[in-house]
Amino acid sequence: MSKEEVEIARRNASIRVLEFLDTARVVGLGTGSTVETFLRTAIDKLADKVLVASSIDTVITARSLGLAVTDSISVDRLDIYIDSADEVDPLGRMVKGGGGAMTMEKILTSAATLRVFIIDELKLVPRVPYMKPIPVEVVPRALSIVKKKLEDMGFTCQLRIPQGKRAPVISDLGGAIIDVSPPRGWEPETISQTLDSVPGIVEHGLFIGYTDILVIGKLDGKVEVVTYRNIRARP
Ligand code: A5P
Repeated sequence: MSKEEVEIARRNASIRVLEFLDTARVVGLGTGSTVETFLRTAIDKLADKVLVASSIDTVITARSLGLAVTDSISVDRLDIYIDSADEVDPLGRMVKGGGGAMTMEKILTSAATLRVFIIDELKLVPRVPYMKPIPVEVVPRALSIVKKKLEDMGFTCQLRIPQGKRAPVISDLGGAIIDVSPPRGWEPETISQTLDSVPGIVEHGLFIGYTDILVIGKLDGKVEVVTYRNIRARP
């Protein structure tokens, strides 16, 4: 399938998400090319909202579209958070962080009343992590210690190196990004708990239990909406 078909699938899914914005005042925005498509689709509806971005990339995109973004330090909760993912499995578990913004993405996700993720169907996988490694943000001075600890547990670790450099990519928050793959057969929950337990790891890109609504743009033009939680029952 072509890039254009994927883009149309993402745009169709973004249109379906517009209805969730009606009652929202504070809107959190993820990072990446799907979020950019969503921003372009939702621009009119977003104009009078308080927007909080998960990355400088998204701030720049939003501003280029004429949307003002509020610093996350000014809000303590969000009505809705909208993002995409790199891989999603049937239980709504996700790998995120291809853009290196997973720490702020997880923080904003955790503070939102409703979490909506937009994907094209190519991102569906039988179980996460599937093809993508899990991005991990590490305190830079703990890099060698964290890497050794993970390797001793059987993870493979790849520093994310930008072109023309030897040091790893540094996130908006100042952490170094490494991409890790767990030993074969580990459950996603076990991987997540293990990564959570290593001192020096700030956050990682395995998102479990955060998906309320998944909006899937299909390549045949259809859109599927999967609800993982009874959102009316939420506080
Ligand atoms: C950014 O850090 C990621 O979590 C993105 O949400 C994810 O990589 C999806 O990006 P694309 O929409 O560009 O595929």
